[in-house]
Amino acid sequence: MWKGRFKQDMSAIVKDFTQSLDIDWRMAECDIQGSLAHVKMLGAAGLLKADEAEKIELGLRKVLEEIKAGKFTPSKDLEDVHMNIEARLTEIEPLGAKLHTARSRNDQVATTTRLYLRERLKVLAGELKELLKILVDNAQRHVSVIIPGYTHMQQAQPVSMGHYWLAWFEAFYRDHERLEFALKSLNECPLGAGALAGSTLPVDREMTSELLGFDCPTRNSLDTVANRDYMTDYHYFASVLMIHVSRLCNDLITWNTQEFAFIVLPDEFCTGSSMMPQKKNPDVLELARGKTGQVIGNLIDLLVTLKGLPMTYDRDLQEDKRGLWNSLDTVESVVTILTALLAKVDVDEKLALAGLEKGYSLATDIAEYLVLKGVPFREAHLKVGKLTGWCIENNLAFGDLTLSQWKEHIPEADEDVMKILSPRDSVNRRNTYGGTGFAQVERQIEDARKKL
Ligand code: ARG
Repeated sequence: MWKGRFKQDMSAIVKDFTQSLDIDWRMAECDIQGSLAHVKMLGAAGLLKADEAEKIELGLRKVLEEIKAGKFTPSKDLEDVHMNIEARLTEIEPLGAKLHTARSRNDQVATTTRLYLRERLKVLAGELKELLKILVDNAQRHVSVIIPGYTHMQQAQPVSMGHYWLAWFEAFYRDHERLEFALKSLNECPLGAGALAGSTLPVDREMTSELLGFDCPTRNSLDTVANRDYMTDYHYFASVLMIHVSRLCNDLITWNTQEFAFIVLPDEFCTGSSMMPQKKNPDVLELARGKTGQVIGNLIDLLVTLKGLPMTYDRDLQEDKRGLWNSLDTVESVVTILTALLAKVDVDEKLALAGLEKGYSLATDIAEYLVLKGVPFREAHLKVGKLTGWCIENNLAFGDLTLSQWKEHIPEADEDVMKILSPRDSVNRRNTYGGTGFAQVERQIEDARKKL
């Protein structure tokens, strides 16, 4: 379009190689939003006459209408979203040639991308809140449901299923805080940084920043066009979130197997097998787990792109968006479907308890019972360990033992030991702050609701 210092046109393969339209067109509306603020500022700063600014604004609004109506077909020949919009504006309104005053695509693309990312992250924050709400609802629904708690994937101690859901509430709440941080770190306005050094023209950076809802203008023009930290902040948030998602999904997949069997997944979130008629597969959970790699990959992709890049803008930075879109789309779809699925997950209480009865998950309770009788914990640990070994050999559960059998192994045990052998009481007794005791779970639910 503008030949300038070149004698020859760019070759077709170079155009194709360097264009970013296929990636950045989705930011078209945000780009116009940025330009509208820029034009207003140029007018206020006296760099455009009032009627010029008005005409350019009108032109931009027309382009916006065309885009919204799907009537604008951008061309890869014009390289990117910014050039396409400016070219179309100038067709409609020749004064459009004044739009790029005191602006470079380097500060422009940073502004447009921040605006776009901000919109998406606000939506995502709302969706994440829904997920948090469902987790609290599930906690309430399952406060008194007892499941085996695991360490090393071995039965450890019984816990309230409500406590389990609240564990994920904590994790996803931290994610929400990281998302808030990402939103904060993107919310500074690059406009006016120009290509890298600012401008000789008297631009009002405070004004554009304010018009676009940013907290402030960025403080250093070099950093402004070089910086992509607001993207890495997002990617880090997204990666940790997806790690949480994949761990949660994995638990549910495991507990939904015939071997564990205490998690019941809603039919409408499961798939069948093309060959095996009996199958009900947890594909949604597997896919959510499976998408984690892409999201982490996108973080690594950007980090590697940024590593060693010279101050300031380098064209490498144009590669920052493909992974960002993939990540945003993926995370949004995962959070949405996971929320819908979790709302309908059920626990088969009987099977969860039955699983516990076969195990020895009350061993710690017995050791702590002995501690209260004055037995040093190490000694109690040893005694209960030996008793457990003996029970396994004789195929007995703690609940099967007679008082004399108890006495034989642990002389300090009295009749009252029988009373501590129910998983429900065991959970109820773990009433330390943050423990799985029902009162604690209820308190956590209250706190969580307050946070929301
Ligand atoms: N499309 C580019 C990007 O996404 C902006 C263009 C900057 N180009 C330039 N030659 N300075 O980063």
